[in-house]
Amino acid sequence: MKIYLPRDAAAKALGAERVADAIMAEADKRGVDVTLVRTGTRGMIWLEPLAEVEIDGVRHGFGPMLASDVPALFDDPASHPRALGPVDELDWMKRQTRLTFARCGVIDPLSLPDYEAHGGLAGLRRAIAMTGQQIVDEVKTSGLRGRGGAGFPTGIKWQTVHDAQAPQKYIVCNADEGDSGTFADRMIMEGDPFTLIEGMAIAGLGVGATRGYVYLRSEYPDAIAVMTEAVRIARMAGVLGDDVLGSGRAFDMEIRTGAGAYVCGEETSLLNSLEGKRGVVRAKPPLPALEGFLGRPTVVNNVISLATVPVILEKGAQHYADFGLGRSRGTVTLQIAGNVKRGGLFETAFGITLDEVVNDLGGGSASGRPVKAVQVGGPLGAYLPASKFDAPLGYEELDAEGGLLGHAGLVVFDDSADMLRMARFAMEFCAIESCGKCTPCRIGAVRGVETIDRIAQGDGGAVELLTDLCETMKEGSLCALGGFTPFPVMSALTHFPDEFATAKEAAE
Ligand code: NAI
Ligand code: SF4
Repeated sequence: MKIYLPRDAAAKALGAERVADAIMAEADKRGVDVTLVRTGTRGMIWLEPLAEVEIDGVRHGFGPMLASDVPALFDDPASHPRALGPVDELDWMKRQTRLTFARCGVIDPLSLPDYEAHGGLAGLRRAIAMTGQQIVDEVKTSGLRGRGGAGFPTGIKWQTVHDAQAPQKYIVCNADEGDSGTFADRMIMEGDPFTLIEGMAIAGLGVGATRGYVYLRSEYPDAIAVMTEAVRIARMAGVLGDDVLGSGRAFDMEIRTGAGAYVCGEETSLLNSLEGKRGVVRAKPPLPALEGFLGRPTVVNNVISLATVPVILEKGAQHYADFGLGRSRGTVTLQIAGNVKRGGLFETAFGITLDEVVNDLGGGSASGRPVKAVQVGGPLGAYLPASKFDAPLGYEELDAEGGLLGHAGLVVFDDSADMLRMARFAMEFCAIESCGKCTPCRIGAVRGVETIDRIAQGDGGAVELLTDLCETMKEGSLCALGGFTPFPVMSALTHFPDEFATAKEAAE
């Protein structure tokens, strides 16, 4: 009997270890020979722990599982109360276009043979036969843009590093996934770590970098453990090292742990932190692509950007570019969270609407109350009201609605959300996380909290002051933390003006 069960942090938090223990104990009790494969998650978090039993070569899902549900799995799985049918046939899975996450939840994350059997290393093997420029061209043709949030074309960034002359270049992976409601980076690192390693090796061959670092946040102990072990396995197997897969070219990498500052997700403070310095933002220019880690040309890319490179090289740039909408090519890995019935990761071609994601896939709010707003793009993203839910998800398309796709995290709120409090939270978050380097952010965020408190106490004139302050922070901040905090604040004010007026009236 073959059973698959996720070992990623989300499944574990929901009791996967208890279910795993129960499976082995039951197998022992009944004398049944069970192979338990620990995988990543499929991304249907509301069904975790999701056990999968292989029946006639097809994986059937059972979830969410409790330890007490395990004995019935050994009786007649078909009549099990938590039986869901073949996993690949579930609506959530069938409607996805899984390119980056194709293997996540399917394979044993730390089995290199399993990885290769599911298409792994094919991209790297193809890259080895290409010149650096051909690899960069392939990524350019794919249309891949930075999935950390800014959406800068990955191939153009790589070209800058490729063209720079230096004795040493670096690939730095930004795994400091700090946006609220986001977990795609964690999920792929825990569920398919070799794809990130392969992507970084391809990037190294492309731009001529021989060393790489994953800057991984300390809040992700499972991802740190899985990535560290995967790097060790890859090195032992010759995927990393002085002679990558016998190519005669070198690329090696290591995992570095961050210390928990949100601003260290900003690329220049990340580089400072990686160099052992305090995580403060550096002014740009110079761009990290020219003067990055230790002053050398450095590719700094998000986990998902790098983890998408193998499939682009494997299937060809055009295959990837054929998906999407406008200038947003390929797939977006939506992370659906907050007050929503069905939360999880959904990979789809750009162009899907918020309405489809929140109301159809997500099933509306978990509380059953009407959905009031969705914050798209993390704590620096705008709150979009229901009237904007028809907007297709794409970088330019959301921008046109005053929104921001960011790292594609969606946090859902029902009609009980207090939007003035949410605006205050955005300013407070900025005040706490500010690195302190520039005045509009360091002082502006503190004044922002005070100004919103004045509005709450009935000072209607403070609304104009808040608007003015937001403009100053937007225009005058050195990085996205101070520069983007006005988005949630102003979107709350613009789309829910009554709540700011109500506060005033209540005070009167
Ligand atoms: P940015 O627009 O300054 O730069 C984007 C990237 O392109 C950077 O890596 C930059 O170095 C590079 N770049 C720009 N011009 C280039 C050129 N000519 N050649 C080579 N490279 C070039 O944006 P920034 O400040 O790096 O990121 C802001 C974004 O980060 C926001 O949109 C926000 O959504 C996102 N963000 C993501 C978070 C997460 O947890 N993933 C957290 C907070 C913000
Ligand atoms: Fe630092 Fe804030 Fe200025 Fe960014 S905007 S450099 S976080 S003070």
